Amino acid sequence: MTGKMDNNETNKMATQKFDVVIRGAHVVDGTGAPGFDTDVGITGERIASVGNLANCDARREIDARGLTLTPGFIDAHTHDDRLLLSDPSMTPKVSQGVTTIIGGNCGISLAPMPGVVPSPVTPPLDLLDDTGRWFQFATFAEYLNRLRSEPAATNCAMLVGHTTLRVITMSDVRRAATRDEIAVMRRHVEEGLDAGAIGVSTGLAYPPAISAPTQEVIEVCRPLTSREALYCTHMRDEGDRVAESLEETFEIGRQLGVAVVISHHKVVGEKNYGRSAETLDLIRKAMQSQRVCLDCYPYAASSTILAAHLARTCKRVTITWSRGMPQYAGADLDEVIARVGGTMEEVIAKLLPAGAIYYRMDEPDVRRILAFDETMIGSDGLPHDERPHPRLWATFPRVLGHYGRSLGLFSFEKAIHKMTGLTARNFGLTDRGEIREGAYADLVLLNRDTVAEGADYPHPIGPAIGIDTVLVNGRAVWTQGQATGERPGRVLGGH
Ligand code: ZN
Ligand code: CU
Repeated sequence: MTGKMDNNETNKMATQKFDVVIRGAHVVDGTGAPGFDTDVGITGERIASVGNLANCDARREIDARGLTLTPGFIDAHTHDDRLLLSDPSMTPKVSQGVTTIIGGNCGISLAPMPGVVPSPVTPPLDLLDDTGRWFQFATFAEYLNRLRSEPAATNCAMLVGHTTLRVITMSDVRRAATRDEIAVMRRHVEEGLDAGAIGVSTGLAYPPAISAPTQEVIEVCRPLTSREALYCTHMRDEGDRVAESLEETFEIGRQLGVAVVISHHKVVGEKNYGRSAETLDLIRKAMQSQRVCLDCYPYAASSTILAAHLARTCKRVTITWSRGMPQYAGADLDEVIARVGGTMEEVIAKLLPAGAIYYRMDEPDVRRILAFDETMIGSDGLPHDERPHPRLWATFPRVLGHYGRSLGLFSFEKAIHKMTGLTARNFGLTDRGEIREGAYADLVLLNRDTVAEGADYPHPIGPAIGIDTVLVNGRAVWTQGQATGERPGRVLGGH
């Protein structure tokens, strides 16, 4: 009897046909557990089987012997809101193994934009598009529906930007919002969440959101509470007042009863070097009584719009793009000052609108934050900069190659967890970030001995080394060093 059943089982297995079978991979499943050698069968969008599939057929076979299979990477912090539409191949991302991006960060979202786009586009919204052409979605639903009808190569989960809401709502963004303005912004948040946004982001360090008091943020974000959505923040201060900013972030999370995400956690300014020991202590303590998440990019230089108050705090500044003097993209600000003449402030005024890289962190802080157990990996890449910070193309391979393999900051399994399972759990991305039966087939096949960044400061654009094949929802988006042109990406709903 038992034998007969076994026979039936074997026969069923023998006739089982998958769309794709990946054979003989070393599987690192995203949970942080040690890897193991096995086969993975995919049917449609999902992983149908993990185990010995020697007797199974497939429409497509991938021989993965000698390679490592991991869940697709989730970029916890991006500004890809427009890239998803303007270059849906998402090459800077899929080339390094990213299969899902979190967009709408730092208070900056492409939607909603119900009225006329301000001209020039209010910084820092111009990070997404300084022409204003792409701010064409009156509601968040319109934006997400476009992403659904014209999908990109990667999945995305999107946040509503508080700075965008201020710009569309307030007659003067240089002050706190009035009670009426808060009510309007709150309705936009409700609309965004109903449409499928996973939370709200703020960029309290920059004007115009810098003028928003804590209470404004809390009141605008009220709709997060009932939907268990997220509050993600580029904190008010990452320098001298970083501890106070953490406290403000925790307070907002407590008042709303929601999880907070501390974006691109860092400590800037020479006199604050070393203070990540203190900030991580504060974060660890807060985690005992409320939900706190954080992400980090693997570089000691930051990048955003060009501004004198930031340039003043750095020894070195590199221009990433400039409308005023476009010929200086890629040049150091000191060089530009020497050539053009005048004070730093005068030269910056001539370059604007513009973007920059700021060398203003301490390497030991970067390592301490990266190695912290709960830190997720997020690129904070700026895809529309002419000479972008290399984090856009190289964040994930740099974590695996430079920080993991070369410096031994963490095990390979731990590094993968920081870019997959941990991130999916924190953002509520169901059935993503892990390799197991029933999970979506977002997968990366890579060579763990060679994976490395293909872009750096002098050469900021280039695909990663050692990324063999990338699948999104069961379909290959990157193989043999090229984008396939497939667009299987989905808008993910979160909680
Ligand atoms: Zn930011
Ligand atoms: Cu950002």
